[in-house]
Formats: sequence, structure tokens, C-alpha cells
Amino acid sequence: MLCGIDIPADENVIVGIEGFEDAGVYKITDEIALVQTIDFFTPLVDDPYWFGQIAAANALSDIYAMGAVPKTALNMVCFSPKRFDIKILKEIIRGGADKIREAGVSLLGGHSVDDEEIKYGLSVTGIVHPDKIMLNEGALPGDVLILTKPLGIGILSTAIKGKTLNEEAMNNLVSVMARLNKGASEVMLSVRTHAATDVTGFGLAGHLKEMIKETLGVEIYREKLPYFREAVELASTGFLPGGLYRNRNFYREHIISSQEDFFYDIIFDPQTSGGLLMAVDPEDMKKFADKAVQLNVEYWAIGKFVADPKGKITLV
Ligand code: CO
Ligand code: CO
Repeated sequence: MLCGIDIPADENVIVGIEGFEDAGVYKITDEIALVQTIDFFTPLVDDPYWFGQIAAANALSDIYAMGAVPKTALNMVCFSPKRFDIKILKEIIRGGADKIREAGVSLLGGHSVDDEEIKYGLSVTGIVHPDKIMLNEGALPGDVLILTKPLGIGILSTAIKGKTLNEEAMNNLVSVMARLNKGASEVMLSVRTHAATDVTGFGLAGHLKEMIKETLGVEIYREKLPYFREAVELASTGFLPGGLYRNRNFYREHIISSQEDFFYDIIFDPQTSGGLLMAVDPEDMKKFADKAVQLNVEYWAIGKFVADPKGKITLV
């Protein structure tokens, strides 16, 4: 979007607008860099308290994906008190505030705009040592590919909008979306992790492509992919989010797969507040597993990075 717009150069900008990183990074001293991100969106569930939690967890996720510690947050609100009961807004903000507190972050303020369409999210600032920033790129052949939340969030969210998702599945979905990637980030930082990102709008395939670019390849194993079981039936009835089709059209040339089955669909599913995706040194997997148990973090080893074919995601 910023193509053709002149952005002044600054040597303290470590991660700027050029890459496809999760957040921007700005060096303050040799020990401290600021990590900044903003994210907000329209409600994807009816319950305003849950929506607030999900939006906050989603915004915080980009800080965790960079290996940083979130410190402060600002609310970003679009709401029309003429159109909706102000109690709805209070519940959204309460949901966000609960997640902000859980993250150990201080809420400093925010800004609201009168808008017919409800939107909520956060601007979050974190800190990281300039030498310890976790980038999308940097994975090595042999690294284990790890994912920390199940796929299918986009497919199930589409079913919520169509009122076809049962209550149990919905509760499970919202609890996963509202879960902070804090613990996952702590596990990630306890071992030699070479690269990481979080899975959001571009789906597993799109975010993986950012990790491999044209410099290495990755294999993902169908039988290891975690997903919400309701996604299977929803996908078979063709009930797929628009973003999934867009991702598929955009990334399919980078995929090698013998068949276009359910797993081929799910890797393109756009996620909201999805899990962390990491490239972990294979020698550290035992340590990773122990730390994950200790911090009660769910994870799946879904594949591995390979030297060739470069730029390709092979669905095995
Ligand atoms: Co991200
Ligand atoms: Co983001």
C-alpha cells in the first residue's frame, strides 16, 4: 500500500515497512528496541465480551511472534452510541482489558470514532533485545516446523456468520482465538528457534511462504496438521471463507501436492488470532517439549524445513 510513497531512512529502524514482518522494530539503545503493531477488525462473534478478548489476543500476537515482550497498549474503537447500546461497547472493552491484564500489559488509553460499523483492536508496544528479534526468515534446513493452534478458524468463523455452527464448537473456537500466544512465545524463546511468525489472514501456506521465500523449502505432513473437526464437514459442503479462495489463487503455484483434498483447503484458510509458527532446531525438541508441558502450551510438530525444492511447500 505504501508503494511509491517516500519514507525517510532512519538507521535505528531495524524492521520497517519493506518486509512482511509481524511488527515494526526500532532501536532505542544497544539493549532495547521497541516493537510496535496495530490490528483491529469487525466483530466475528455475537458476544461482545468474547469479541474484545479475541481482538486483543490477536493484536498482542504479533508482538509475541517477534519474540518480544508486550508492555503497553492503546484501545482502537469504532462505535456508534446512537445505533448500539453503550453496554455492548463496555463489554468489548472489558474483554480487551482482561486479555491486556493477562498479558501483563498496561493500558495507557485509546481513541474512539463514531462509526456505524463496530470495530475494535489494539495498538501494542513491546520491547526486545535488538539481537534477539525473531524474524520470519532465518529457518535452516532440518528445522522442525511447529504450530501452536489448530487450523480451520476461518472456516468455522464463516459458519458462525451463517448461523450453522453448534454451540459446543463455537465455545471451543472462541476459547482458542482468545488464547494468548504468550506461553507459546515463552516456549519458543527457551530453545534455539531460528524464525517465527503467527498464522493470520494469509493462512498456513501464505505465512509459511514468507518464512521460506525463495531460499529454502518446507514439507508439511497431512496427518500431523491440527484442525477443528467441524471444519471437515463444512469444507465438504463448500462452506469456505472468501479469503481462503484468495489465498489459494495467490499461493497455489508454490504448493506441491499429489491431491487437492481437505488438507489442501485448510492450509489456505485465513486465521484470526491463529497460533505461532516456528522453525525450531531439531536438537532442542526434547527441551521444547518439556517447556511446553511446564507452561501448559499446546503444539504440533507439523513438518520440517528442507534445502530443496526452494520456495516450495510440499504437502506430504
Ligand atoms: Co503476524
Ligand atoms: Co498483524
